Order: sequence, then structure tokens, then C-alpha cells
Amino acid sequence: MTVSPPVAIDPFGADIPGESARLRALGPVVAVELPGGIPAWAPTRYSTLKALILDRRVSKDPRLHWSLFGEVAENPAWGWILNWVGVVNMLSTYGADHTRLRRLVAPSFTARRTEKMRTRVEAITGDLLAELDLHRAGAVVDLRAGYAHPLPMRMICELFGVPDHLRNATGRLVAAIIDTSDPGPEHALSVQEQIGTVLPALIAYKAETPGDDLTTEMLRVRDEDGDRLSEEELLHTLLLVIGAGFDTTVNLIGNAVVALLRRPDQLAAVRSGAVSWDAVIDEVLRVHPSIASLPLRFAVEDITVDGVTIPAGDAILTTFAAAGHDPERYGPGAAEFDARRGADDHLAFGVGVHRCIGAPLARMEARTALPALFDHFPGLELVAGDGLAQVPSFIAYGWREIPVRLR
Ligand code: HEM
Repeated sequence: MTVSPPVAIDPFGADIPGESARLRALGPVVAVELPGGIPAWAPTRYSTLKALILDRRVSKDPRLHWSLFGEVAENPAWGWILNWVGVVNMLSTYGADHTRLRRLVAPSFTARRTEKMRTRVEAITGDLLAELDLHRAGAVVDLRAGYAHPLPMRMICELFGVPDHLRNATGRLVAAIIDTSDPGPEHALSVQEQIGTVLPALIAYKAETPGDDLTTEMLRVRDEDGDRLSEEELLHTLLLVIGAGFDTTVNLIGNAVVALLRRPDQLAAVRSGAVSWDAVIDEVLRVHPSIASLPLRFAVEDITVDGVTIPAGDAILTTFAAAGHDPERYGPGAAEFDARRGADDHLAFGVGVHRCIGAPLARMEARTALPALFDHFPGLELVAGDGLAQVPSFIAYGWREIPVRLR
């Protein structure tokens, strides 16, 4: 199969569905360039992406398996990728290291453990609705800032014991990591500086003020056995789980609100019980997955998939949005939001050994927040119509602001 010249991925993610369709027209696995010109391969079909994710010859460890890893430090325009490949946690490791790092955290997020968080999620949801009630009826508010963002943010901060004085800095750090619109060295440097200050501040605070939280628990593991968790792994694991633990769910809730307000027939169907809230959530994850594509995976050896050979050492982008919109899997109307199709086979939480550990929590938060919002404001209305802006990222897939009229 002939391989077309590399296609530059839009660092702003301004039209992720259109970009996925254009890449798919070029073939099942397409050569792309990430911001700053980083070369990678993008699978464009559901079946191709799933096969690559599940292939044991595909690694997530850049230190072991990326032929260009040594060049990142040399190239100022590549600095942004350090936020993904310069960290050591379960998302960027392979084999035994991955198993070890995942086992430290995953047991805290099983469905059973998550169920115990429900009361707090309901209480925070109630508080946020009460805060929205302080606006006069008919006021226009940003529902991302006022509802979709603070619920997962407050919940993950409680779980990890992040004190009030570090919460805004944590939010800014995660937003800066997700923002891929500026591949310049200053942005990359500023993120590295924030990682180097915010997380050590959290660790120092929890060492002084231990509590019944997951940071305190991880500090105990580090102190008891540095072989199980090094200082660097501790810092980068906190960054991953706190970041993934709220930003993704912010976009799940926000994307669901917009999808339902744009499709009154779908909102009526879920209100009448004709479709379930779980079906709505799965459909949002399929059509508008919180992570559109994730850097990076690496070919451990030459891998031929659907007629294309990815050479050993090359990088692969994990393209969840393209998979969710694949007409081969979901038919010609794949890009359309329709909760009645019952597509719960999406890959939005990943699959295989790296599948999301926080899926039960994210689902429970959305399952709590969405019906509560639509019950509380039965006449909620989207003000911006088609003019909503995507967060400036090809990784995160969500709305920057969600202006709604409260009724
Ligand atoms: C709508 C919400 C969420 C979405 C769409 C999502 C999506 C994903 C995806 C696609 C992966 C797999 C990455 C890969 O295969 O490369 C993943 C992994 C992960 N997620 Fe989530 N996530 C969400 C919520 C959460 C929450 C609430 C947490 C925190 C508790 C979390 C923590 C993690 C962690 C730690 C991993 C790494 C697992 C590993 O590499 O073994 N996620 N997530």
C-alpha cells in the first residue's frame, strides 16, 4: 500500500471529526505530524486501532521503544511532548513496570470502592446546583465553569487530599498540559516548572498533614519501599491520576449537556425513560470522547496492520475519536449523536492492560450530575448555538465554555 505524505494534525483540534474523516480517506493507518513536526502514525478505523492497542508488540514506554526519544531534548519545538513521554507513570510504561505502577492505584478505583464515593458526589452536585440557584432565573452562565468542571475537580481533590490553596494551581497545570496549541519552548518550560512546583508542594503538604487520602497512602508506600515507588514515579503518578481524574470527566459532563441541548428529541427520550442515562453517556463517549487522541504508543518491532507497515521504533497516536466515528463500525451516520443506537462497544476508556482505571468514577459522576441538572433546570437552554469553541487541544475533546440560560 502506498503511504501518503505526512498530514499535520491541527494543534487546536478545531474540527476533530472532519480531520478524522480526511485521514480515514487516506487509509487505515496514516502518517501524521504532531505539533512541532513530531512524526507518528494515526490509525483511522475502529478495528485497526483496537488491534494495535491490544498488540503486545506495541509499547507505551518511550525510553525503551521510541527511536526519536533522544531527539526530544535537542528540538525546542518538541518540548510539549515531554509532558507525555518525559513522565514515568502507568500511562508511559510497558510490561512489569506498568503492572507495578498500576497496582498501586487501581484497587482504589474499583466499582465497589467507587460506590462508596457516591454520597460525596451527590452532595457536591447538590452544592453546585445551589450555587447556580444564586443567579437570577433566566441568567446566562458558563456551565463548564459553574458545574461540569467543579464537580470532578472537587471530588478528585478530596480523594487525593489536595488542599484548597493548591487547587487553582492544579487546575491551571492540567489545563496547560492539555493545551497543545502552542508547541513553543516557553509553554513547555512553563509546564515543566509548574509540574516541578505544584506536585512537590502537594507532597510536602501531605507529609506534614497526613490524612485519609490517596496521596498520604502513596507517600506511605514510597517511604516503606522505594523499589515499589520511586520519588519520580510518585510525583508523575499523582500528576496522571489527578489530571486524568477530573479533566476527562469535565468534558464528559459538558459534552453530554451540549449534545442533549442540541437534540431536544434525545433529551425527551431520556426524560421519558425511552433511553437510559447510561446509553446517553456511552453515546457521548463514542461520538465526543473526552480524549480524542492520546500520545503516544511505539512499535517494538515492525508491525504490519491492514497492509501498512509501521517500522520498529516509530510512534503511534491512539485515535479514540476516529474509532468512534468509523462508518465501517457504526454505519454512515456514525458522526451523529443518537443514544438509541446502544453502542456501548466504544473505545473511549481504552481497552486491554491500559484501560481506564477511573471509568466507574467518571460514569458515576456523569450519571449523578446529568439527571440532577436537567431535573433542576427543566427549561435549560444553550445560548451559543453552533458557535461553541473547542478547548485548544488535539488531545482533549470538549467545549471551552458552555453558555446556558438557567430556567
Ligand atoms: C470520561 C472520563 C474518562 C475518560 C474518557 C478516560 C479515558 C481513558 C483512556 C482512553 C485511557 C487509556 C489510555 C490508553 O490506552 O493509552 C485511560 C487511562 C487511564 N485513566 Fe482514564 N478516563 C476518564 C476518567 C478517568 C478518571 C476519573 C480517572 C481517575 C481516577 C482516570 C485515570 C486513568 C488512569 C490512571 C489511566 C492509565 C491506566 C493505565 O495506563 O494503565 N481516568 N483513561
